Amino acid sequence: MIVRNAWYLAAWAEEVCIKPLARRICNQPVVLFRSLQGEACALIDSCAHRGAPLSLGTVVEKGIRCNYHGVVFGCSGVCAEIPNQQMIPEKARVTKFPLVEKDEMLWIWIGDEDKADPSLIPDYPFHGDAAWPNTKTMAPVASSYLLIADNLLDATHLAYVHGNTVGGANPNVHMTAKSSLRLTEHGHRFERLMCNAPPPPAYSACVQFAGMIDRWQEFDFIAPSTVLQYSGGVPAGADRNTAGAPRFDMRIFHSATPATDDTCYYFYSVANGHDVDDPKATETIFDQVGAAIVEDKLFIEAQQQRVKELGDERLFDNTADAARIMARRALRNYNKRHNPD
Ligand code: FES
Ligand SMILES: [Fe+2]
Repeated sequence: MIVRNAWYLAAWAEEVCIKPLARRICNQPVVLFRSLQGEACALIDSCAHRGAPLSLGTVVEKGIRCNYHGVVFGCSGVCAEIPNQQMIPEKARVTKFPLVEKDEMLWIWIGDEDKADPSLIPDYPFHGDAAWPNTKTMAPVASSYLLIADNLLDATHLAYVHGNTVGGANPNVHMTAKSSLRLTEHGHRFERLMCNAPPPPAYSACVQFAGMIDRWQEFDFIAPSTVLQYSGGVPAGADRNTAGAPRFDMRIFHSATPATDDTCYYFYSVANGHDVDDPKATETIFDQVGAAIVEDKLFIEAQQQRVKELGDERLFDNTADAARIMARRALRNYNKRHNPD
């Protein structure tokens, strides 16, 4: 189910420049580009003249020029120029998508333009915060976008999928984690606490702990498909609010954007909060999370194929599914609120 009347992450702001970028978003071909005046723009990726992709075009003074027969469209989607012709027909316009640049990201509104409310876009000030140096990337995933939040919110998978990275070798640590859930304005907050646990390999690659640690993971789900994660660890028994080094602190921004019903873009950024002056530390933590996401992708894509083939009616939920179920409920509520008919 792709929810309409919602903001989706179209691209990192740094990805969009005067070279047009083609993305399929919610089953529609979209071209993203930055005008010569610096404005990020999103148009349907098909010229209103004879349908050629605008992503094969060139950014010029008045907008983007289709490189088939040279017609130019502005960021508003309206034709700004037809070579050697004064009269511009009413039909010479392409669909324009509302696009908002915020926190180093470009959010596209898929739905009715008059309903595009920027206050629904998640806040993520950490991208611009010197206390959280970060690295951003996007992984195409051959699954429904819904399976990305499903994966994040049933954290018991860390015990089996991520033994060598962010999980650690002892499944019991995850099965016995203390967890809590509470509703928030646009979704819910899911917290997990694992006391006196061995540091997982991904943490040890970043910070040297002498013994056991107390670990936390906090996830804020924001409908339709964003998860803000804060994870960390301090020596067992230490106060996480005041403990100095050695400690591990990381924030991950996750957002899944549907490309089609069965494929998505998995955007994630990884921020280093424990060794902020060392760019190498930011790189190490990014590599560790990247390795974990490769592990996730293997399961998510294989899961997608089986569920597509066999349906999901026969699947059961266990107690660890509570946060995932709550996210699906938040999504249904969002859909009811924004698509009442
Ligand atoms: S198809 Fe674009 S100008 Fe003709
Ligand atoms: Fe995972």
